[in-house]
Amino acid sequence: MELIYEKSQPGRRAGSVPRNDLPVPEVPAELRRKRPPRLPEVSESELVRHFTALADRTFGIDTGFYPLGSCTMKHNPRVNERVVMLAGFRDLHPHQEDEGAQGALELMWRLQQYLIEVAGLPAVTIQPAAGSQGELTGLMLMRAYFADRGEGEQRDTIITADTAHGTNPASVTMAGYKLEKVATDARGNLDLDDLRAKVTDRTAGLMLTNPSTLGLFDEGIEEVAEIFHSRGALLYYDGANLNAVVGISRPGDMGFDIVHYNLHKTFSQPHGGGGPGGGPVAVRETLEPFLPSPQVVRDGDAFRLDYDRPASIGRVRGFAGPFGVFVRSYAFMRAYGPALKEMSEAAVLNANYLLARLRDVYELPYDRHCLHEFVLSARTLKREHGITALDVAKRLMDFGIHPPTIYFPLVVPEALMIEPTETEPKERLDAFVEVMRQIAREAAEQPDLLEGAPHRRPVRRLDEVKAAKEPVVRYGFGSDLVKTEA
Ligand SMILES: Cc1ncc(COP(=O)(O)O)c(C=O)c1O
Repeated sequence: MELIYEKSQPGRRAGSVPRNDLPVPEVPAELRRKRPPRLPEVSESELVRHFTALADRTFGIDTGFYPLGSCTMKHNPRVNERVVMLAGFRDLHPHQEDEGAQGALELMWRLQQYLIEVAGLPAVTIQPAAGSQGELTGLMLMRAYFADRGEGEQRDTIITADTAHGTNPASVTMAGYKLEKVATDARGNLDLDDLRAKVTDRTAGLMLTNPSTLGLFDEGIEEVAEIFHSRGALLYYDGANLNAVVGISRPGDMGFDIVHYNLHKTFSQPHGGGGPGGGPVAVRETLEPFLPSPQVVRDGDAFRLDYDRPASIGRVRGFAGPFGVFVRSYAFMRAYGPALKEMSEAAVLNANYLLARLRDVYELPYDRHCLHEFVLSARTLKREHGITALDVAKRLMDFGIHPPTIYFPLVVPEALMIEPTETEPKERLDAFVEVMRQIAREAAEQPDLLEGAPHRRPVRRLDEVKAAKEPVVRYGFGSDLVKTEA
């Protein structure tokens, strides 16, 4: 496809702006441009066609089934987009004083109350803008807590599972902690013997997601909590998999002391490609004084931002947090009301339905009921036909299905991590099953077809490392730089 610059013709315009009669401001010579900006010159119709063609090539939850494990790509109710565009929310200035922003502050306060209930912990900050930022915030809270107890120097290690998401070790390192990994046992739980050997007086805490990235609820979680708490260490809950347990079990009741939520996963936001997110963090009473400042608080019938927090770790994000995300998540929770638990129940049911219908054609490394997602392995296909998880993922694209997460978690070879979410009807799930079964047949009968996939997408297999590490996002204007293919 041609780039917009390649469609450019001198003198063409997509619109015309009347000349104004204001005096031309004096701009010092050294600050003036030497030549006009080199913008593409196209008519409005060509401009619209260009971007429509690009939009047609992208794939999202609105295009088709998107079972991207761990990322929870669920439908985003359209009514929430209307709500967030209400003028009172949309036009509110972040510097508006509290008296003039009572509605927004009340919404944030009410969201905090719901989050407190979901986590089973008494205090929360809604500032962080992503799960990963929630992780860093949570670890900074741990640091502040131990420093306050005079154990800051002594406790220098965080333990994570060998199934942990990559952001966990990254956050541990950014927060200045050492990282120690604990193994997963044959049932997919944390290996308690390995854990007991690793938790010492130097341990600050555990970072764990439960259900794990294998989609399995840790059956030993109470014992895990006891092992850490008996050594004075804390438990951090990575809430990326909260979609499995809302209204059913609470991280606070499991023994976790700090919890982050991914509002964009569990409580719906149009996310992906770096889109807007929210990573609030809830804590036990003992950690409350350290929460970021400001906090949204209620005084009688009034709401305000509280900056008077002497022990706070400070601000972790501009203003009071990602406000549009708050509005959508609040609207999402209100729409379910007390039935919010049905969201998780349906997510778990959908995942188990797929698991039951696929387990005879793909290997199931941990033979248990799953929660909201599950991990299969393409290991047998690889051994018998030379077909990898990547080949399966690429072939799925030919059927208008977004690939599942692959090669993660690392403990499963040729992993295919599938998360259907609660918003998919049975017909979609059945269609996915048929395609996955067809692909398994093709692996045996026509392996070349899979190795060459995708055949029906705008681009075939890309050099993904190069695309990620050396993206060309500038037009070269005649230099060797640039030009996308296809
Ligand atoms: C298990 C897990 N933890 C943490 C994260 C990080 O969350 P975010 O993408 O909001 O930074 C993710 C993201 O997919 C995840 O799946």
